[in-house]
Amino acid sequence: MTSPGNQNLEIGEFAEGSEREVEAAVSAAKAAAPDWETFDVDSRVEIFQNAADIMRDRKYELAATVSLENGKNRTEAMADVDEAIDFLDFYSSEFERANGYEFDTGEPTPGQHTTNLLRPYGVFAVISPFNFPMALFVGMSAGALITGNTVVAKPASTTPLVARKYVDILEEAGLPDGVLNLVMGGGSDVGQPLVEHEDVSGVAFTGSRGVGLHIQESFMELGKRGPVIAELGGKNPVIVSDTADIDEAVEGVKNGAFSFSGQKCSATSRVYVYESVIDEFTDKLVTEAEELTIGPATDRDTFVSPLINDGALEDYQEITEQARNDGTVHTGGNVVTDGDLDAGRFVEPTVVTDIPHEHELAREEHFLPFVTIHPVSGLEEGIEKSNDSEYGLCAGLFSTDETEIDHWFDEIESGMCYVNRNQSATTGALVQAQPFGGWKFSGTTGKFAGGYWYLQQFMREQSRTRVE
Ligand code: SER
Repeated sequence: MTSPGNQNLEIGEFAEGSEREVEAAVSAAKAAAPDWETFDVDSRVEIFQNAADIMRDRKYELAATVSLENGKNRTEAMADVDEAIDFLDFYSSEFERANGYEFDTGEPTPGQHTTNLLRPYGVFAVISPFNFPMALFVGMSAGALITGNTVVAKPASTTPLVARKYVDILEEAGLPDGVLNLVMGGGSDVGQPLVEHEDVSGVAFTGSRGVGLHIQESFMELGKRGPVIAELGGKNPVIVSDTADIDEAVEGVKNGAFSFSGQKCSATSRVYVYESVIDEFTDKLVTEAEELTIGPATDRDTFVSPLINDGALEDYQEITEQARNDGTVHTGGNVVTDGDLDAGRFVEPTVVTDIPHEHELAREEHFLPFVTIHPVSGLEEGIEKSNDSEYGLCAGLFSTDETEIDHWFDEIESGMCYVNRNQSATTGALVQAQPFGGWKFSGTTGKFAGGYWYLQQFMREQSRTRVE
């Protein structure tokens, strides 16, 4: 496997699993499940706290691995590792705070005694994407594991190395054998047999809507009753009011749309700007986009990272061609092949206007540095168009009018809602502070990662009453 920023750089050779490896991994997870469920709560928590400590010590090495493996620039790669550590810290403290989710409810009637508890389902499949290879692999698997499930985890086939390192870290932290099992390979060879395996009771998945819904349907068809906890992407809208600080809005949209080349489910992808300020906003965004440094993570000042694979490069060429035909491309639209960049998959951040709201470029998730700008007459039209989407993950508003802000919070159909966030209009949620998840087709359960109701989804409830 090579690095997306430099395809002459070999990262390593990785096994490609098949149904046989899935079978072996699920069988190991099943065998380990009874002991792991009854593992002492404090000792269980301690393992994940140890793992967080090891990751803090190895932060630079892990971030460098993320950068080499998926192309993320230095800041973003560090944030990926920090987020993973935050998940471990937060889920450990939540599990500890809830005392392992076991409550003594007392004596319903004299002579009877009831304990109410949440218990694990058994074996969970965890399937994680390339774009947050550390944070999401760690976060989803920690959710399943800390609550007492055993796990078979399949990282994205483009980012196996960082997953392998985390499995080793958990082992060093004290995780017993068979509790977390890694399988590598593609969706059809490994992912599908994994979720369809009769001994897999639940799935945690982050990835495309198509795959997530397919997993959910397979579960239903096979008569499985456990949860499919999925986060399924977005087409994240931002509204820019005529009362907004336009420079702040430009900064927020630039960061939201072009950080990690838009390869985030939370990326800003469509911007609805009040007609009176749309020219100023567009001109400034174009100027800012043209000043961004495109390059590999080995260059310190890189902002725009390479695309993950050839499929993404082809998608970029296709949608920018479509944008040229059906709209106006103000900047971008080209693959960058200058000098050293020839060895990576680099493309220009792209700003497009004159695309009708109904056009697929303004409706489909692309996972590319591509943003469309649309005029609106005011807040109502902005909200209506923002909500006219099957997705509901992240949304942003730039406005200084309190009435507009309150109204937008009430009406916007989105899990994550950000006002006047110049650091990024829609990306960069912080664990615990900004629980992350989606409405509509952006999620399946409505409970958010890094939030207070996340862990409970990995367990089922039992009420135990005994006559004494
Ligand atoms: N948590 C990330 C963000 O907020 C997406 O997974 O951008």
